Amino acid sequence: MTAFDPFNIDYSIEPASFEPNDLVIQRTLDDMGDAYFDQDAVADILSRDNPAIVKVWMAPVPDSKGHLVPLMTVIYPGKVGEEYHMTKGHYHTDPQNAPEVYITLKGQGKLVLQTREGDVHVCDMLPGTMNYIPSEWAHRAVNTGSEEFVFLGVFPAATGRDYSFIGVGKENFHKVVVERDGQPAVIDHP
Ligand SMILES: [Fe+2]
Repeated sequence: MTAFDPFNIDYSIEPASFEPNDLVIQRTLDDMGDAYFDQDAVADILSRDNPAIVKVWMAPVPDSKGHLVPLMTVIYPGKVGEEYHMTKGHYHTDPQNAPEVYITLKGQGKLVLQTREGDVHVCDMLPGTMNYIPSEWAHRAVNTGSEEFVFLGVFPAATGRDYSFIGVGKENFHKVVVERDGQPAVIDHP
């Protein structure tokens, strides 16, 4: 059996880059509009524009047990109605063996977490802070600042990602992060 060779990943924050990568996920509002609670705001923005919301780079590792996927995410600043730009958010499909860590490099944000049992947690994401996400917690990162929000992450390569609870009329995240009086506020999903 041939060992998988060690490798370095070179990343930069401005402009954002992450090499090598073999998967880049880019989501615009058109791709993830159903994740936002204010569907009138989604339609209004899409009638004029299709803003970039998020870009994720993943490093090339086998998607098998024993490997970790290093990644970098950029969430571009902006809001949809009152709700800040964010990742779509997901559960890991392996609820026992798939924790994740996030390490914020630039900007400021919130990490919204919940379990299938209905527990909810919201953490700050800031440079100098590392977030630990246990396996069974769905997670969504939110850019609450006015600049690009950039963080690194690492998760087990063998897990899938479940987005099926996100969407109009679905369970969704029970908490959303909105701007109120110029400040981030965490409110119940309307
Ligand atoms: Fe994840």
